[in-house]
Amino acid sequence: MAAMSRTLIETGLGWRYTPPRMAALIDDPDTVALVACDIERLRGLAVMHFGEARAHLVLLCVDPARQRHGIGRRLVDWLLSSARVAGIGSVGLELRADNPAALAFYRRLGFVETRWLPGYYDGRIAARCMQRVLGPEPALR
Ligand SMILES: CC(C)(COP(=O)(O)OP(=O)(O)OC[C@H]1O[C@@H](n2cnc3c(N)ncnc32)[C@H](O)[C@@H]1OP(=O)(O)O)[C@@H](O)C(=O)NCCC(=O)NCCS
Repeated sequence: MAAMSRTLIETGLGWRYTPPRMAALIDDPDTVALVACDIERLRGLAVMHFGEARAHLVLLCVDPARQRHGIGRRLVDWLLSSARVAGIGSVGLELRADNPAALAFYRRLGFVETRWLPGYYDGRIAARCMQRVLGPEPALR
């Protein structure tokens, strides 16, 4: 998971989500670390921290060989459903300003931009803050 984060999320930045930090996130009772695997290997991961009223999507990535197959959406949908059950009102995240693909992905999933943070990543790359307000679970049909 740490290697995937380094390659797919922290590209060109210092390595913050190292194996010990990832292990600490997995151990944290207020954090959910979700993985998507097939018979061969890890294909995606999502890490979300749950607060009292708000949750924060810390990490999300999908193996480039498996992107655009709905894995990212399923990981986020699972976490959003868990957040609703936990009584969470909204989910926030920060996103690199140089990542238009992820911006399109999050917009598609109903997240909206809330703030712009210059130099958020290593003092060099700005972040977009995005948020999704959680309504009731869509009715099953
Ligand atoms: C962003 C990311 C997690 C999306 O995961 P994914 O499994 O490929 O996404 P999905 O297949 O679930 O896409 C759902 C919808 O989001 C939109 N979307 C996803 N990737 C997109 C892209 N590259 N460009 C435009 N829209 C995109 C599409 O509307 C897509 O639906 P469609 O394929 O039916 O058109 C993945 O591209 C990734 O890991 N990127 C590198 C790491 C990263 O940027 N992480 C997020 C920031 S921390």
